[in-house]
Amino acid sequence: MPNRVIVGAQWGDEGKAKVVDYLTEDADYVIRFQGGANAGHTVEVGDQKFVFHLLPSGLMHPGKACVIGNGVVLDPAQLLHEIEEVRVKGIDARGRLWLSEAAQVVLPTHKLLDQLKERAAGKDAIGTTGRGIGPAYYDKVNRCGIRVGDLLEDDELREKLERILSVHNEIIVRQYKGEPVSLDAVFVEYRGLGEQLRPYIADCVALLGTAVKQGKGLLFEGAQGTILDVDHGTYPFVTSSNTVAGAACTGSGVGPTAIQQSIGVVKAYTTRVGNGPFPTEISGVLGSELRRIGNEYGATTGRERRCGWFDAVVVRRAAMVNGLTHLAVTKLDVLDTFKELEVCVAYELDGKRIEHFPASLARLERMKPIYETLPGWQQDTTEARRFEDLPENARKYLHRLSELVDVPIGLLSLGPKRHQTIRMGL
Ligand code: GDP
Ligand code: IMO
Ligand code: MG
Repeated sequence: MPNRVIVGAQWGDEGKAKVVDYLTEDADYVIRFQGGANAGHTVEVGDQKFVFHLLPSGLMHPGKACVIGNGVVLDPAQLLHEIEEVRVKGIDARGRLWLSEAAQVVLPTHKLLDQLKERAAGKDAIGTTGRGIGPAYYDKVNRCGIRVGDLLEDDELREKLERILSVHNEIIVRQYKGEPVSLDAVFVEYRGLGEQLRPYIADCVALLGTAVKQGKGLLFEGAQGTILDVDHGTYPFVTSSNTVAGAACTGSGVGPTAIQQSIGVVKAYTTRVGNGPFPTEISGVLGSELRRIGNEYGATTGRERRCGWFDAVVVRRAAMVNGLTHLAVTKLDVLDTFKELEVCVAYELDGKRIEHFPASLARLERMKPIYETLPGWQQDTTEARRFEDLPENARKYLHRLSELVDVPIGLLSLGPKRHQTIRMGL
């Protein structure tokens, strides 16, 4: 099978986990390569529903290996909690879940600093998930982070914690007037967590490098979405990692020549959770209706997701920066009852038509979407099993999305369950 990277092509929550779970059938390894427990990935198998924050979404397939790569910021207690959650339901991660020893560790102070910074920002807050993502990546890039491998070394861990916590506590106490966090308590807790994680910790670069040589199938699972990418998104209203397909390489240690397909997951409409610009956002009753039908509430924080029409400018940018070979369109069924659907085909600024998503937030905020109206199909699509089974207007809608983005549709999702999926050339 071709090795594949699956990324969100909008603002996250596109249904990546459902697509990853579905395509795991073809793969041997499923790999998370960036982000952390800010992700909320929902997998429904039979009548069981799981929301993974750190566990790769391929874990529900017995016998498939899962990897958390070096690019992830890992909250050890959260991961152990998820491992336990699946264990009580009969799924054993032992012997098939591997954590990179080079992945960064999220500390309690990262979460605290994330939340304090957000609170202090008031109306300028990013609307983060509060999972410590920004501060953890900051320390990584600032070369003072703790890595998963460090959790197994007494002296090294203590020394590194001492250094990093003194900096964190300084900020917590002086800047935010908070209580300092105890070095001893964090050391004891994290050393203990390290021991619990010991059976899973591995040299994942070697593991995946060997897998590539043996011709095994790799499936990379992106978190967040392209427009939340720290370079390509609506900066500063973004997450703190690169979420695009290229990050699959840096975040796992697998070279780019080993990946043949780049699959962009898109909702048939658009959502965003957190603050920042969103050109096609629908306010009022229609927006609430989309939220209700699509059950658009954050899988990590429970927040209401902002809802809007499909934005082809956003997805065209995603097609470019991810080198998309296919789209996986999800949640088409959510549009089943709408009489008419709007699709944003381009933006308008000062009377000029703009085809490309701008890097400048100020310019983006002034842009107005140019819509094309398409007729709805007002029929249930959740039971369709072939593309030809779909109502004509649904097929036309999908053709138009694909045409606007200039990427073929490889997979279609018509409900949260595995069987509510149509493969179209993937
Ligand atoms: P992710 O973060 O991209 O993995 O997506 P989330 O899990 O945060 O959000 C997607 C939500 O939509 C989850 O509740 C899924 O169970 C659900 N879902 C996925 N695909 C479909 C679909 O085709 N139709 C419907 N109605 N729900 C879907
Ligand atoms: P999945 O993988 C949607 C958003 C937050 C906030 C911004 C920064 O489930 O698609 P952070 O905690 O990362 O510093 O928050 O990014 N965000 C997500 N939005 N889906 C996600 O993940 C997200 N992860 C972060 O709401 O706006
Ligand atoms: Mg999600």
